[in-house]
Amino acid sequence: MIITVDGPAAAGKGTLARALADELGFHFLDTGSLYRRVGLAVLKAGHNPGNADEAARAAASPGIMAFADDDLRNEKVAAAASQVSVHPQVRANLLDFQRRFAAQAPGAVLDGRDAGTVICPDAAVKFFVIATAEERARRRYVELRAAGKDASYAEVLADLQARDARDQSRATAPLKPADDAVILDTTTLHPNEVLAMALALIYLRRELAPRLTV
Ligand code: DC
Repeated sequence: MIITVDGPAAAGKGTLARALADELGFHFLDTGSLYRRVGLAVLKAGHNPGNADEAARAAASPGIMAFADDDLRNEKVAAAASQVSVHPQVRANLLDFQRRFAAQAPGAVLDGRDAGTVICPDAAVKFFVIATAEERARRRYVELRAAGKDASYAEVLADLQARDARDQSRATAPLKPADDAVILDTTTLHPNEVLAMALALIYLRRELAPRLTV
């Protein structure tokens, strides 16, 4: 069984997807981390993330999926990830790994931008998680400050909006809800409330369509 959780940056999709995977005993894949790895590899090699050939080469390099680095979560790498994700060949090079991951028993939860639209269009349940840009920036700002990083709220908001605009407007696999996705607005909700709503929906779907085994 495959569950997809898509949405813009800092909407709460990672928190929800991880919690769902824990609760259901499913595998979990943060697909954004793949694009972050490619973005960081390109930056480390001294190339421009806007260069399609260099980015595609990084996405095809052996070991890229397991590449670990403390910098993966930083905002510069997030921006580079968004830039490399625009290149169709980068997306194509990462597709097979994501589909194979999703096919594992007993099930998988994937979070990202195109998990429900492109990677797993037949997923059993699809969520599209949203929150206002101001609330998402506030969450990211609090997270950065808690990690001892120097950040301004205005900058965080501007970076987030620039990334959303790029992710939504790219020609290949843009950020958008699948037609059959359930939209969850987390702006005023606690993560436990979001999890409870998502689980209720998954169990309800199983009642309505018993072929789903949760
Ligand atoms: O989820 P994240 O913030 O770690 O993602 C970083 C960037 O990677 C995001 O701005 C766009 C890109 N991305 C993508 O294009 N497709 C995905 N499925 C996941 C992420």
